[in-house]
Amino acid sequence: MEKIRIVGGRPLEGTVRISGAKNASLPELCAALLTDQQLTLGNVPEVRDIRTMGRVLAALGAEVEFRVGGEVELRAGSLTSVEAPYELVKTMRASVLVLGPLVAREGRARVSLPGGCAIGARPIDLHLMALEKMGATIAVEHGYVEARAERLRGAEISFDTVTVTGTENVMMAACLADGQTVLRNAACEPEVEDLATLLGAMGARIEGAGTSTLRVEGVERLAGASHRVIPDRIETGTYVAACAIAGGEIEIRHCQPNHLRAVIDKLRETGVRIEEGPDNLRVRAPRVLRPANVTTQPYPGFPTDMQAQYMALMTQAEGASTMTETIFENRFMHVAELARMGASVRENGRTAIVTGPTPLSGAQVMATDLRASASLVLAGLAASGETVVDRIYHLDRGYYRIDEKLRGLGADIERLA
Ligand code: UD1
Repeated sequence: MEKIRIVGGRPLEGTVRISGAKNASLPELCAALLTDQQLTLGNVPEVRDIRTMGRVLAALGAEVEFRVGGEVELRAGSLTSVEAPYELVKTMRASVLVLGPLVAREGRARVSLPGGCAIGARPIDLHLMALEKMGATIAVEHGYVEARAERLRGAEISFDTVTVTGTENVMMAACLADGQTVLRNAACEPEVEDLATLLGAMGARIEGAGTSTLRVEGVERLAGASHRVIPDRIETGTYVAACAIAGGEIEIRHCQPNHLRAVIDKLRETGVRIEEGPDNLRVRAPRVLRPANVTTQPYPGFPTDMQAQYMALMTQAEGASTMTETIFENRFMHVAELARMGASVRENGRTAIVTGPTPLSGAQVMATDLRASASLVLAGLAASGETVVDRIYHLDRGYYRIDEKLRGLGADIERLA
């Protein structure tokens, strides 16, 4: 199994280029199922989850071609299957994003239930509730969800909890439904908005993207389109935090600072100097890092996908800070590993209390999920001596060549086979 070895203590300098957003690309690849014409996506990050989604779509009969430079061409002329099998769904929960498009286009879908994952139970009940309201018959048996509908019809749907992939699934289904669908308490994440932009280019009629109320007027058919994926805001935030913890000054290019407001504001509060350009950031680490509390929230709040990296940073702040996780019930898996490197973190239910600064010392640590792995890499940059992060396939699911990008910024980091 591949590992990453880091020797800490080197400040970062130079320029890093941000890749396209994984969590925008995943639903956008699935949007190809809504039309028999060609969809071309640009700026798709070449990470493992994207390849997995390519396999899911190919298993349904879509033609998927990855070109160098992040371009993907997809054509779902006619589908040969409506089933997303367990073997693929278990490796990536986002496979459930084929559900809405398949029911809308084919009138039928069979998708393996994703089950729990490292960060919590993560049910899909809200996706199913919404499709049922749109007239689908849902059966759950043998570990699969089976949904059927002659033609979905528009409905008024109100989500109890903000759900990102739930909003995306239902928004895609509503594009081909009969009549108007209104989604309330919809996710406002930039990835949802970007998907709506793509669907709009395909001929969908969607209003309110980026707000909590979405109105979708169903159409008979959608056409092909070309679309460039937005930059990855979580990858961007991770490099801001990397510079803050390692020291130094870096430039982050090809990013979208507007999508990162909560993270930029919070890091400025801790003393990190951040200058914003239209599509770039200049980050300078402070001499003294101040503690600041965060509570994770749906967008535009502080993202749960940045909580672990922020915690690594707070181990170096002058004083105590709290991280309160409100989105997932079990997202402190990185605490035990950070503690093995010398961090002082106490867990109290959904809050972690970090007392800093504690010197970190390099250790062998294990990645448990995507963002937890990133937090261990950040800790390794600040630690004395050598840190070896095991199970980095988690990192490769969502970060394009993080070892190369950090090495480009002067970090002493290498991948061990
Ligand atoms: C997406 C992101 C993930 C991010 C998360 C929260 C993708 C591929 N993944 O995940 O990186 O961490 O948003 O920003 O975009 N819930 C239910 N019932 C449902 C659906 C969700 O109870 O049917 C709950 C979940 O258990 C969780 C909360 O709602 O507590 C938010 O989950 P959700 O927004 O759906 O996360 P994902 O879309 O899976």
